[in-house]
Amino acid sequence: MISAGIVTVSYIAATVLFILALGGLSNQETARRGNWYGIAGMTIALLATVFGVVTQHYELLLGALLIGGSIGIVLARRVQMTQMPELVASLHSLVGLAAVAVGFANFMDPSVHHTGIELTIHDIETYLGILIGAVTFSGSVIAFGKLSGRIGGKPLTLPGRHLFNLGLLLAAIWFGREFVIQSAADGGLEPLIIMTIIALVFGIHMVMAIGGADMPVVVSMLNSYSGWAAAATGFMLENDLLIVTGALVGSSGAILSYIMCRAMNRKFLAVIAGGFGTAGGTTVSSDAEQQGEIVPIEAHETAALLLAAKEVMIIPGYGMAVAQAQHTVFEITKALRAKRINVRFGIHPVAGRMPGHMNVLLAEAKVPYDIVFEMDEINDDFPDIDVSVVIGANDIVNPSALEEPNSPIAGMPVLECWKGETTIVLKRSMATGYAGVQNPLFYKENTRMLFGDAKDTLDVVLKAL
Ligand code: TAP
Repeated sequence: MISAGIVTVSYIAATVLFILALGGLSNQETARRGNWYGIAGMTIALLATVFGVVTQHYELLLGALLIGGSIGIVLARRVQMTQMPELVASLHSLVGLAAVAVGFANFMDPSVHHTGIELTIHDIETYLGILIGAVTFSGSVIAFGKLSGRIGGKPLTLPGRHLFNLGLLLAAIWFGREFVIQSAADGGLEPLIIMTIIALVFGIHMVMAIGGADMPVVVSMLNSYSGWAAAATGFMLENDLLIVTGALVGSSGAILSYIMCRAMNRKFLAVIAGGFGTAGGTTVSSDAEQQGEIVPIEAHETAALLLAAKEVMIIPGYGMAVAQAQHTVFEITKALRAKRINVRFGIHPVAGRMPGHMNVLLAEAKVPYDIVFEMDEINDDFPDIDVSVVIGANDIVNPSALEEPNSPIAGMPVLECWKGETTIVLKRSMATGYAGVQNPLFYKENTRMLFGDAKDTLDVVLKAL
């Protein structure tokens, strides 16, 4: 058992390390260091809590640590890069569930005594903690289902769904009032349980109503909610570090949601209202043949085109993650750069299935950061590009987002590769991307389709180079 003073100092140190971690993670060059700060902060926080805050039943704590830690290690070792978004969603659901469990436990704990205004404040903390936790839990479970393809990405648009949501919100407020009143008279469990059910229904309904194309915002939004749920738990347990850490996660998640909304050119409330993007998951559209002719290309022709180019732009998407083609992509990049061809990467903010998905893959393959550019930095350069290579990307290079006002992804900024000399699209078929929208890029005169698994095809291109 360590003293309260050491716990406080450790908590301050952990807080500073968490802030440094977030600062580090905001830039590719410093991301690795940021991760280490985070790991150090979490280690200090855990040690200080285990040896300073917990006073009894160490065997339960050890058991929980062993079970939780083992599951964590097995999951982290097994998870494929393409399953990371689902893993993140399932971890968010656990944060929500923990907030609900702590809320109920805290409410029923006979050793917790508050009176007067203190009791009211504590009741509100408990109520909000369970509410946010339950929404996070059920919303994340649905997000997990959608991201893993177990639940279709098509938005559930019930008639009168906004009224339904409003009804749930009003009911939650009303039961909150009931809870505070009844709790003062030693009751309150009933309204608390009813509100939990309402919050669970709200979480399910909210994420079910969100269309495939808005899932990036949902991922970061649930990240933010999980932070606020943790902060609320911190208030319940009177744990300063949990409050600060929760607030850091909550606010950085909110900022990320804002960035995602901007990337999609969407208003946050419109996202919550749902219905943007259709199917989700790969589907083959029936009107594919009505869009015109496609021009296929072979791997050796692709190599020849690349060798004749001066400016090459590589646009990776979800398919590069599926094919695990990032290492071959870098080998090709090195081969072209050795021939003094300027190769750059254009990254769309929602490429892949989680924020920063492509950056992580490219960093893993050791692609230098200074040739990786964000969409805003390079979108004006496409008229000067000789060859753009679209690797397993679809929605993020779909011109209909700009040209068709009725498109389900209308208004979303995209990488305008068709403005370059030639675009080569690598994919396995004519299937649509995550948003389930047909892509006119494939039918443009200056587009060539290179069919096949991206890794297999690029291996052949590399050989030809
Ligand atoms: P998508 O639009 O989903 O397109 C990926 C394409 O990759 C598919 O058309 C698929 O076509 C192809 N593909 C799959 N496996 C392949 C393989 N092994 N080899 C070659 N090609 C392969 O991806 P995107 O362009 O990256 O856009 C991302 C989409 O996901 C957006 O709609 C975005 O809103 C959504 N989303 C993003 C996030 C975040 S936070 N980034 C989270 C959730 C959803 P084939 O089947 O024909 O091969």
